[in-house]
Formats: sequence, structure tokens, C-alpha cells
Amino acid sequence: MNVLVFGAAGQLGKAFHVLLREHKNLNVLYVTRTECDLGDPEAIARVLKQSQAKLIINAAAYTAVDKAETETESAYAVNASAPELMAKYATQHDATFLHYSTDYVFDGSKSDFYLEDDVCNPLGVYGKSKRAGEVAIQKAFEKSKLGQYAILRTSWVYGDGGNFIRTILRLAKERKELKVINDQYGVPTHANWLACISLELCLDSDSQIKTFPSGIYHAVPSGEITWYGLACQVIDSAIEAGETLKLKPEAIQPILATDYPLPASRPQNSRMGTQKLRTVLAAKNLNDSSSYNETAQISAFPDWRKMVQKYVKDLSAK
Ligand SMILES: NC(=O)c1ccc[n+]([C@@H]2O[C@H](COP(=O)([O-])OP(=O)(O)OC[C@H]3O[C@@H](n4cnc5c(N)ncnc54)[C@H](OP(=O)(O)O)[C@@H]3O)[C@@H](O)[C@H]2O)c1
Repeated sequence: MNVLVFGAAGQLGKAFHVLLREHKNLNVLYVTRTECDLGDPEAIARVLKQSQAKLIINAAAYTAVDKAETETESAYAVNASAPELMAKYATQHDATFLHYSTDYVFDGSKSDFYLEDDVCNPLGVYGKSKRAGEVAIQKAFEKSKLGQYAILRTSWVYGDGGNFIRTILRLAKERKELKVINDQYGVPTHANWLACISLELCLDSDSQIKTFPSGIYHAVPSGEITWYGLACQVIDSAIEAGETLKLKPEAIQPILATDYPLPASRPQNSRMGTQKLRTVLAAKNLNDSSSYNETAQISAFPDWRKMVQKYVKDLSAK
């Protein structure tokens, strides 16, 4: 089976690169910006045609949250128009489409965990462009009987690439003091874990496509934390792993988001409930719609903390 991965040089794209190596009977085409600029619809159409893919994974995105405030057109081209083209191709060729979205589609005013059907009200251009992508994909599939899709909304992604955890580790080697926002709640998500559950959703044990209910799914590990709490965990884990740091854990200072103004506003509450995805993954027979309700065994996803500890340990060992 032919598989196409857009965004192969990003954190999630690299995670797919590693994971898909184990699926020997898949013929995977990895595409980076060099091969296909997602701002260029003709290039996208060309790559889709060339790939003849039955599984299209879009790990690419315009992810510069603050820059998006001034580069609106680019953000919408990559996050909305490009996935729309991919979705349309999938509906025309009976393919499966995996796409990724963000907690930033919410305004953060809910006090509880966000569910998939909760009202979206993105605060910034990045969130708005990602939401536009979600809507465009849903529309494309609404009109078609062919193909299936999953939009996996995730948050605070880290992996092989630049991310908050790596920034904290770098700053901890340079500085003795650090201020970190302590009134925004979310869930750190390891790109490898995200790629892994994505494949679990759409591939069977023979690496063939399996049917799942198309729609939006929240895909984050268990638990919750603030950026400040995450920074403290990162420093603790680094010290445990034997790193020598200038920054002591007690020298990290919690601050309010209002004390650290950024071009784009972020939601205060980014926590997303994952029961829908866990239920579908737990179902024995995904083709039998009666099996993915209360009868399915729903187990919790692993806790974010253990994954961050291991990530920092692995970075320290390098
Ligand atoms: N990172 C997060 O904290 C976070 C949080 C919530 C949701 N998400 C979502 O999770 C998914 C994966 O994110 P990630 O962390 O893996 O992102 P990432 O590391 O920033 O990777 C994104 C990739 O998209 C590529 N890209 C950007 N503009 C492009 C263009 N015009 N043409 C072709 N490729 C382009 C980038 O290419 P270059 O390498 O050339 O720049 C990069 O390789 C995305 O859908 C993102 O919106 C991420």
C-alpha cells in the first residue's frame, strides 16, 4: 500500500519516519517543504497524484503561533487550503486522511476538559487557520461516500525538533533565573506517542487500512500541567539524568500570562478529554458501530509526566 507523509521534516513527521520503518509492506513517500511547498496548490496536486496513496498523513503545518498574526495568508494557505486539497483527493480516491489540529481552536474559557463537539473560538490567527482546516476537511468528506478521515487535535507537542522542553533545557544552562507562565493549563504530547496512536487507529496488524468512524478526535496523554509545572518537571528530570545546570529548580518563578504578553493570545485552559479516541481504539471490531459505546473497555492513556521524564533522560544521554 502507498502512503504519503507531508511535513516529513517536522517533529511529528520524523516520528512517522521512525515508526513506519517497521511496516515493511508499506511504500512510503516522505515529503518536505523542498519537495512540496504547501502554499503551492499545483505542487500539492502533483505530489498527491504521483503518490497514488491510500493513506495520506499530513504532519505539516504553519506552527509559528506568534508570527501567524502577521503572516495570515501563509498560515491559512498551509493550515486550511492545503489540507482541503488533501481531503478532496482522499474523497476522490477512496483514501484515508490523517490530519492534525490544535487545542488553540478553543478560547480556553471552559473550566472542564474540552470535548470534540465543544464550541470553537480560536483567539489567534494560528488557531483560526487550523479551525478553518478542520471545517474544510469535514465539508469535503460530508459530500463524499468514499474515503475516511481523522482530525487529531493535540497540544504542546515535543519530539525531534524545536519545542518548549528543549528551550527550557537550553535556558537552564545559560541562566540562573527563569520566569514561566503558570496560569495556562494543557497536556504535553510526545510526537512518537501521537504517531503511534494515529497508526493504531487506521492500520491493522498486517499494516492494512482499517475502518474507523471519521471525525475529530482529541489525542493527548493523561494528566494536565501548566507551562511552569512543565518547566519544573523538565529541570527535575534533567538533574536526575545528571545534567549540570545553572538554573536551580527553586529559581524558576511562576508568573501570569498577562505578565508575559505575546503577539498571539493563548487559551488559559487547553485540556482536552480523550474518551472518544480511547473508546474507538478499545473497540475490538471497528466496523461494528455497536462495539464502540459503553461496552468497550476504556483505559486511560499514559501519563504525560513519565513520557517527559524519559524524553529528557534520552536527550541528556545524547
Ligand atoms: N508543536 C506544537 O506544540 C503543536 C501543538 C498543537 C498542535 N500541533 C499540531 O501538530 C502537528 C504537528 O506539529 P509539529 O510539532 O510536528 O510541527 P513542526 O515541528 O513545526 O513541523 C511542521 C512541519 O511543517 C512544515 N511546513 C510548514 N510550512 C510549510 C510549507 N509551506 N510547505 C511545506 N511544509 C511546510 C515545516 O517545514 P520546515 O521544516 O521546512 O519549516 C515542518 O517540517 C501540526 O498539525 C500542528 O499544528 C502542534
